[in-house]
Amino acid sequence: MAQVWQAADHVNQGIIESTELGQVGIAAACLAPGEVTKGHSHTLVEEINIFKSGMGRIQIDDAFFDVCEGSVAVIKAGEFHEITNSGDENLEYVAVFNSDVDKDEIDFKERAEHFATDDCPAYYDLLSKIAAGECQGAIAFKAWAAATPNPDFAKVLKTIAIREAEHSAAFEKRLCELGQAVDFNDVDPKTKENLEFLASDAGDLEKIKCLGFDDLGDKDTLSALLRDRSIDPITGALMGRFIAEERDTARMVNECCQQMFGDEAPKAANTNDVTLGQVCEAVTSLTGLVQELQSEIRQMQTPKKAKAKPAKKAKAAAR
Ligand SMILES: [Fe+2]
Ligand SMILES: [Fe+2]
Repeated sequence: MAQVWQAADHVNQGIIESTELGQVGIAAACLAPGEVTKGHSHTLVEEINIFKSGMGRIQIDDAFFDVCEGSVAVIKAGEFHEITNSGDENLEYVAVFNSDVDKDEIDFKERAEHFATDDCPAYYDLLSKIAAGECQGAIAFKAWAAATPNPDFAKVLKTIAIREAEHSAAFEKRLCELGQAVDFNDVDPKTKENLEFLASDAGDLEKIKCLGFDDLGDKDTLSALLRDRSIDPITGALMGRFIAEERDTARMVNECCQQMFGDEAPKAANTNDVTLGQVCEAVTSLTGLVQELQSEIRQMQTPKKAKAKPAKKAKAAAR
């Protein structure tokens, strides 16, 4: 069970029950205002954090404790822990931990992995992938905007970059609300390769072809994102907006392409295929799904309430 003692408690509570402390390691840490450690858990290693100065907050599994000078937090092996500096000054502390452990034997987990459960809806992983991919997309489109010789096209690309960044933040925010975390390394290698190409000094036409905007009609698989009927209404609404904006992005690029390259431009089957009517159709379909889901949720909440699940994991060590 999580323990955090405040300075005044030390007088009467001098004994800590430890099953792991043997050979002891000591590490000093300092967090700047607003800084957060990379939350994690680890088997076999028990940690005691002694706070020297500043103000902050520590999460130990599902519990949160305010800490300041003199606070002592005891983190048992296997417990998730994350420290936030919530004050205006540096948060300094010393971590004491058992160090005579074979590192290969330690099961180290970041937030998402630590809190993952078997009944985690499959679409949580999809949300993480979208957030990670859009984050990469924002970087790529921004670089492309800087590289293109066409100033008008640069404005469009900059708009798209901002949109991509906003998508990434919106999906990350949604995952946080669901108690999850984004794995920003989880980007499809092919997608990553394409995005890197956008940032290169290749020509605009080559990049547009690389993106497949010339053939989106066949490649537009965005509707499939809505087929999962377990998606909750709030996430569903976010997904609907995302799909519509992604298609609008395709239209914007395609229009620029037609203006810049005329006959040389790839066949505009793409954005013409992806009409506003189709988008409306998808949104209408989504609205119906949302209503159905809301109805199902109301029914489910009577006998038993859907249980929210925690996140997956990440990697880090004692700080
Ligand atoms: Fe995107
Ligand atoms: Fe740790």
